[in-house]
Formats: sequence, structure tokens, C-alpha cells
Amino acid sequence: MSDEKRVAFVTGASRGIGRAVAERLAREGRHVVLVSRTAGPLNDLKASIESSGGSATTVCCDVGDSKALADAVSDTARSLGRLDILVNNAGITRDGLLLRMSDEDFDEVIRVNLKSAFVACRAAARPMMSNRWGRMVNISSISGRVGRASQVNYCAAKSGLIGMTKAIAKEFATKGITANVVAPGFIETDMTADLPDLVKDEARNITPMRRFGQAHEIAAAVAYFSAEDAGFVTGEVLAVAGGMGM
Ligand code: NAI
Repeated sequence: MSDEKRVAFVTGASRGIGRAVAERLAREGRHVVLVSRTAGPLNDLKASIESSGGSATTVCCDVGDSKALADAVSDTARSLGRLDILVNNAGITRDGLLLRMSDEDFDEVIRVNLKSAFVACRAAARPMMSNRWGRMVNISSISGRVGRASQVNYCAAKSGLIGMTKAIAKEFATKGITANVVAPGFIETDMTADLPDLVKDEARNITPMRRFGQAHEIAAAVAYFSAEDAGFVTGEVLAVAGGMGM
């Protein structure tokens, strides 16, 4: 790996949006650190990136385990000598109506979707500060802006990501580190694959473009926020949602 290559740490990289983000950043010449819970899909992705001329490292980590995640970020910065781009993408849903939602389902969604981003941003801030350059990109959801029935936990986490990112953006604005949010609408991935047809139809109906987005369309937004010349953009929320929530 060239010393000049920027290092991008991407959580939830094994599939869906995270995979598309990792592939896109690798194509743009970043060294990508692929993070998820199981080795198999990460190794396949690493091989695929390398066969296209890119470079990647894999890290198995449950982002809900704060110590493991903080260590993974710090170890990456130490072993690769830098950490420039952080994409907090790993996420889960545990949907249910408020009256039926358990404490466990609430806590788990907050832990995996929100607390993990806090832990990773905190751990990444130091190596980014030493280079006076960093790009933090948090993947929220349009649901965090407009709310969605049966997703009290998820909307709380995704909305929390927006406030947290803006606070981080202000803290680091003079340090060469930006923090921004991408808020996807309905995207065709495993997360939405099992939704009942009725819900998918409703999703299309409330999306002005009347379609689901593709993972690569989210990756394009992440690539923008992590670009060399996006250094004057911070604390922003970019909805990539086919017009939903405008
Ligand atoms: P997905 O379910 O296809 O992929 C999620 C990824 O996160 C997988 O790689 C999974 O292994 C990883 N992951 C989940 N829990 C983890 C944990 N505890 N530790 C480590 N890795 C973990 O989901 P998708 O659709 O690619 O979503 C990615 C992000 O985009 C999520 O944060 C999701 O909330 C968000 N999003 C997705 C939308 C959609 O319609 N698909 C819409 C809005 C936001």
C-alpha cells in the first residue's frame, strides 16, 4: 500500500450499501478496511476489490461491542499508519409498534445504529487529528427525518445520528475533519428484500420517483462527502431518497 493512499474504514461492508460504498471508495484509490461480523463475505469482497486493482483489509467486528469496535478503529490506524475516512454504515431494524416494542429491541437498535457511530467517531478522531484531515460519513435514513410507524427505535437512532454528526462537525470544523450524513430513502438491499409487497408498494407510492434506490446511488453520495475537495462541507444531511421527505 502506498503511503499516500487514504484509508477508509467502512462498517457493514459485507453487503448492500456498505459493500457498494467499499467498492466505490476502492475504485477511487482508497485503501478500504472492510468491517462486518463474519469473515466469509468480507474475504470475497476483498478478493473482488483486489482483482479490480484496488486494495483492502478485512476486520471481523460486532459494532455493537463498543470495546471491540474502538480497538478495531485504533488498531487499523496503528497498523496502516493512518485513518482518513470513516463510514458508519452498519445498521439493523427491529420493527414493531410502540406499545409492543420491548426494551431489548429499542436498546439493540440504538446500540448498533447510533452508539457504534459515536464509538467509532471518537476512536477515529485522534488519528484524523494527527493528519489534520478526516472525513466522517454517517448513514442515517430519511426515516430519521420524517418518522415512520413501527420504527420508533430505528427513527430515534437515525435521527440521533443527525444531531450527533452536527455536534461532531462543529467540534472539528477547524481541524480539517468534516462530518456529514447521508440519509437514504428506500434502497434495494437485503434489509428491504423481505418487506411484504404491500409495504414495498406503499414505499414506492410515498417516493416521488416511484422506485427504490440502488446501493451505488448511496455510495456516490458517500464518495462526494469523502472527496479531497469536499473539505468545505460539514454538518450536512444529504437525502438520497428519490424526492421523499423534500
Ligand atoms: P443490510 O442489512 O443489507 O446490510 C447491513 C450491513 O451491516 C451488513 O453488512 C451487516 O452484516 C452489517 N451489520 C449489521 N449489524 C452489525 C453488527 N452488529 N456489527 C457489524 N456489522 C453489522 O442493510 P443495508 O440496506 O445495506 O443498510 C445499510 C445502512 O443503510 C444501515 O445503516 C441502514 O439502516 C441504512 N439504510 C438503509 C435503507 C434501505 O432501504 N436499505 C434506507 C435507509 C437507511
